[in-house]
Amino acid sequence: MSSNSHSHSHEHEHTPGNAHGHSHSHDYGSQFIDPTGRIPMVDTQGLTQAERSRIHFDNFAKAHVDKFAEGRRFIAKNIQDRLDWIGVDFTKPVRVLDYACGTGVVSHSLAPYVTPTSQFVGIDVSDTLGADQYNITSAALGFTPEFMKAYKGTLLEPTDPNPTEFSASEFFNFDIVACSMSLHHFDDPAYAMQQLAKRARPNGGVFIIIDNTEAPVNTEIHKIHQQATGHGPHTAMGYAEEEMRKYFEGAGVAVEFEYVVLEGGPEIDIEGYKWHMQIFISKGKRDE
Ligand SMILES: C[S@@+](CC[C@H](N)C(=O)[O-])C[C@H]1O[C@@H](n2cnc3c(N)ncnc32)[C@H](O)[C@@H]1O
Repeated sequence: MSSNSHSHSHEHEHTPGNAHGHSHSHDYGSQFIDPTGRIPMVDTQGLTQAERSRIHFDNFAKAHVDKFAEGRRFIAKNIQDRLDWIGVDFTKPVRVLDYACGTGVVSHSLAPYVTPTSQFVGIDVSDTLGADQYNITSAALGFTPEFMKAYKGTLLEPTDPNPTEFSASEFFNFDIVACSMSLHHFDDPAYAMQQLAKRARPNGGVFIIIDNTEAPVNTEIHKIHQQATGHGPHTAMGYAEEEMRKYFEGAGVAVEFEYVVLEGGPEIDIEGYKWHMQIFISKGKRDE
């Protein structure tokens, strides 16, 4: 997989409607890194969601890793407390897609409970927070790349719905497709879930979403989060049960759908604003 890490100048403009899928990267570089450590405010109008997120998470990786540590512990514990609830037979080899994996909390929390021939695949649009960081952390934990490996990229670019780099059989037929704390970063959650559902094993692959419940909209925190990550103006920060159910149904993964609000979510400091996060875990199985 190429790292796309080169930069060059070129002539086209990124205007709405002209946001192309990138095979090269643009050097937005350090101009967005604020030495005070504040979240960089990025003006990336006209870029794709994936490109906006890549810029944000590449630049904000260090702060994110630190700030969200309590959140990751919270998520790991809640996943590990629910192995039976997930409903997969962990005594047999399982294949897990950890989409928008970040540092890999979903993979790392499940890894101790699976057989050695199981396999974790991470995909993330960012190297710094995602693919690279995931691979570094996994290696440090002693996991081999055959067992656990992340790739840089996206499955959510509507102009390239079947990216060739993810067309091999190793990127399909997952027993678990999980997406933790990331759905609210995507422009179109319904489309995202349909795209990801195609990667689950037909007739029974488990689809898991972990994200915020109905989170504050039009508050200072929402505004900062939106500006920082380049979200569109209407992107929610969370989802109530009925909205999630709709997305699971729309993606054909609503068999035995459940939505559980997790008790005692972490508190996060966003630019001095304290936000007590309320997080849910939801699951459903792919129908056919
Ligand atoms: C809040 S982090 C969550 C990371 C991790 N799953 C966790 O729970 O800690 C959101 C992640 O989504 C990734 N991301 C955003 N848009 C993406 C896209 N279109 N495709 C893949 N990854 C994406 C970001 O790079 C970032 O790592």
